[in-house]
Amino acid sequence: MNAINLDSSNKLIVKGPQVASGSIKISGSKNAVLPIMAATLLTKDRVVLNNVPDLADVQTMLEILEYSGKSIKKSDDQLIIEEFQKLKGEIPYEPVRKMRASFNVYGPLTLRTRETKVALPGGCSLGVRPVNYHLEGLKKMGIESTTEHGYVIGKITNSKDKINISLPFPSVGATEHLITSAVLLKGKTIKISNCAMEPEITDLIDFLSKMGANIEGKNTSIITIKGVEELKGIEYSVSPDRIEAGTYIIMGAILGDNLKIEKVCIDDLRILLNILEEIGITFEHSEEEKYVKISKTDFDKVRNLNIDTAPYPGFPTDLQPQISVLASLIPGKSTISENIFSSRFNHIDELNRMGANIRLEDNTAIIDGVDYLSGAPIQATDLRAAAALLIAALSAEGESIISNIDHIFRGYEKLKEKLENVGIKIEFSKY
Ligand code: EPU
Repeated sequence: MNAINLDSSNKLIVKGPQVASGSIKISGSKNAVLPIMAATLLTKDRVVLNNVPDLADVQTMLEILEYSGKSIKKSDDQLIIEEFQKLKGEIPYEPVRKMRASFNVYGPLTLRTRETKVALPGGCSLGVRPVNYHLEGLKKMGIESTTEHGYVIGKITNSKDKINISLPFPSVGATEHLITSAVLLKGKTIKISNCAMEPEITDLIDFLSKMGANIEGKNTSIITIKGVEELKGIEYSVSPDRIEAGTYIIMGAILGDNLKIEKVCIDDLRILLNILEEIGITFEHSEEEKYVKISKTDFDKVRNLNIDTAPYPGFPTDLQPQISVLASLIPGKSTISENIFSSRFNHIDELNRMGANIRLEDNTAIIDGVDYLSGAPIQATDLRAAAALLIAALSAEGESIISNIDHIFRGYEKLKEKLENVGIKIEFSKY
């Protein structure tokens, strides 16, 4: 693994249209490995994580664990996390500012150090993203929080033996944070209802259970945890990234020529594959052999898309920008409603600059399909918007220059290498 330094002056130059042919192997899941790394704070023992993607966000979480006193060795796709000193409970603003998932260390770190001071995550380009569900749930579990000068100060207080928490919305981060913070509450039973059920939560539960946690209700919206005294060190392999896979599948439907996406967990992508099938996009797939093979669609022969993003098993918000590109190329009117993040439509103006015809009405994008997109200077505002603009630029006529492209390194491992392997040329530039 290399250290990844993000630099907002980086641009991506893409000449389109291009064709993707060959095979892309999917890496370990970003959104699974981050909470798993945070959960390694629960044990003094050595933890070995395999299939860890080399991403900027993983690097940020690694720095946070090092701030807390953990020692980490990394090589290829493996992390070895060890503890040779007393943990420290203070995490500064810089890493938390870079990545909201950093906040998931707060609960486990407070349990281990008894007193913490962790920077409160701030605003984000996807809209307002508070951590109130996290803090309210933690309070019921005996972690009392106060906010001072942009930091959350955590202290251990008393809690009941039977704790019931009902999440107002199935938040992925809050579900993960609360499960992780509950497993060491020995003698207590914690029931969390209206939990998120994303596959990344299943991965976290599998990891914690293998370490010795007592968790019931995996893959359901009600999770019950019986606290145990300690967790032991283990070796664990992170599941494949369903959003990376979904991104390349959508890319294949737009510019693939027998593009094979390998190491795909088909079950996690059921909603995307069902929608593609429903509108008439054909592909080959095997659940056992874990692949999807897909080619460029004849857009005149497919039906329009009508999508509502929703918590799992609904359509993932993390694939909404990418599928907007597909919808832009289907003749007639498609609609995409975003129900998770208030501002996740920053890519729309950029797609319109490339010739797409999209207007916004509240949280719905109304998309009138166009025959083609044309290359243009465009700007990425977040990770998935960057992925969507890359797909758009690869399909467009002429040259596109995507600025702020570094967002893409937060979620797509070995991007250039993987694309080059399927015949796609892209150039990074500072100018
Ligand atoms: N929310 C609150 N209060 C809270 C927590 C959440 O109001 O205390 C709201 C949020 O503002 C949002 C909604 O609940 O409107 C859902 O947010 P959630 O907590 O589920 O999102 P998250 O945990 O912050 C994770 C992923 C995101 C993904 C969302 C939704 C990680 C590290 N991040 O974020 O991934 O979009 O779940 O599925 O797991 C990405 O990979 O590009 C990405 C943004």
